[in-house]
This record gives sequence, C-alpha cells and structure tokens, in this order.
Amino acid sequence: MSLSEVVFRNHARASLICEPVPNARVGFQYHSHIQGLALHAIAGMNTDKSNTPPIVLLQVTDPHLHAAADSKMRGVNTYETLLAVLEHARQDERWPPDAIVATGDLVQDESSGGYERFRSCFADFGLPIFCIPGNHDDPELMKTLLAEQPFQVCGHAVLGAWQLVLLSTFVKGEDAGAVGAEQLSAMDSYLADNTQRPTMICMHHQPVAMGSAWLDSVGLMDSDDFLRVIERHSHVRAVVWGHVHQALDEQRGQVRFLSTPSTCAQFLPKKDFFSLDDKPPGCRWLVLHADGSIDTTVDWLKT
Ligand SMILES: [Fe+2]
Repeated sequence: MSLSEVVFRNHARASLICEPVPNARVGFQYHSHIQGLALHAIAGMNTDKSNTPPIVLLQVTDPHLHAAADSKMRGVNTYETLLAVLEHARQDERWPPDAIVATGDLVQDESSGGYERFRSCFADFGLPIFCIPGNHDDPELMKTLLAEQPFQVCGHAVLGAWQLVLLSTFVKGEDAGAVGAEQLSAMDSYLADNTQRPTMICMHHQPVAMGSAWLDSVGLMDSDDFLRVIERHSHVRAVVWGHVHQALDEQRGQVRFLSTPSTCAQFLPKKDFFSLDDKPPGCRWLVLHADGSIDTTVDWLKT
C-alpha cells in the first residue's frame, strides 16, 4: 500500500489517494481521489438507499489534550474523558465506523506531547482519522505529527457515495475563526468540479449563531461568505463543527447544521456569558446515506 493510500478496513468499500496541494492559510492540504468500490461517476445522487451501504462516521471534538497524562482543564482530566468516550463508542453497535472525524482543539497546550497523546489514542483503530485544527491547536505541529496514515489533516476525502471537505478555520492569535478568501475559493471550485456526491463540510468554528453572545463573538468571522458559497452547491448536505462544546441540530434548506459536544467539559447553551454545563462528555455518530439523507445521534457518556 502506498504512503498516500488508505484502505477502509471495516466496510471494505473504498480507498483514498491523497495528493498534497498548496494551502496558504495552514501550509498543508491534501486533495483526495477515490479508487475502488462505488467509484463510478453517479449521474446525480444515488437514490437507491437500499442497495448502497451508508457511510458511518464518528465525530469527536475538542479533546483539549495535554502533554502530561494527569493534566486537567476546568477540573476535568481530558485524557481520561477522551479514552472513556472512545471506549463507549467501541461498545456501540455502529462500531467500527468507516472513519473518525476530529474537529479541532485536539490539544490544549499546543505541545508535541499533546499531539503524540492524541496519536496514541487513535492510531491502532485501523481507521482513517480526519483532523482539522481548532483555535487551541498549532497547525504546524499538527502537520508534522499527524502527517502519516491513518491521519489526514484538512483537504478532501471521498468515502463511498459521499465526499468530505475538511476546512481549517484557524486564525493565528484569535479565538474566533475564518475560512479565508483563498480556501473559500478553493472549496467553491472543488464543489463545482465534484457535484456527483452529497458532501459534508467539517470545520472547527460555528458558521451559524448559537444564541450565546460570548460564543458567537468567537465564531466564524466570514460566515456570510461561507454560507453564500455552500448555497451555490445543492449537493452540500451537512456542515459539522466543534468549538461550542454543545449539541445543535438544525435543518436549513437541504443542509443539516450540526455541532457536537466535547469529549471533555460542555458549555451551557443560550447563555450570554461563559457558563459550564453539567452534561457529560460526548460524541456524534453520523450515518450518511447514498441519497444524501443523514441519520445522526449525539451519544453522552453515562456517568
Ligand atoms: Fe474547545
């Protein structure tokens, strides 16, 4: 198997070839092409839900790991809660997923040790692990330490009948984020050139208001531009993100907007000032059907 090829172990449906393409914002990006099963061009989306198996994804977000195993954030040992969430997911009947998506704030202390800890938690699953940076991450360290299989940082991926666009919304020195004109233009072109598959966009910052003044002041600064682009592409069916440490599920037209709880502490929804929620760590399962429909649940760790 070549360096750039990932074989999907559990459902054995597809393989990826990833080619690096320039990305001025974060300095790295991979463009992926599909090989293998379900790779024929589909004239319009596949509406035969029964014959094409769905893609199953597990989204984990905002683990906020540290170099030290016993470090805590807001009183929570984030390493322990991530391990507990992953163990909980492994007991789920949907395990193993086709891939895991980690939507940012992988580490809290921007340390090499934190990324090595992240790597050790995911490397043995034998699954593609798609990663994007959050405001607490160091994109250059991510690029270096998550450069090899099974990890992919940003870019595109094709999974059976679906495709993923993995955006960086990291802006140096800011808690808020932005897609940026260059990445937005690249996404617009990619979506225009790849219209055959329903598409899920993964990012860290929220592109829609959460109804919390403090959180919405650190959301996606160029959300209007982002929403204008995805409106032009009717095959975009989902946008998922982290950052907000709470769950949201909102349908707007054909697009499902989904936020996901952190694997550590949660924020109380609809509060104008920072407030912690007492909800437990969580994650999200996504079942992506070939006709573009989505079944999804948030799973909370039982305490
Ligand atoms: Fe976070």
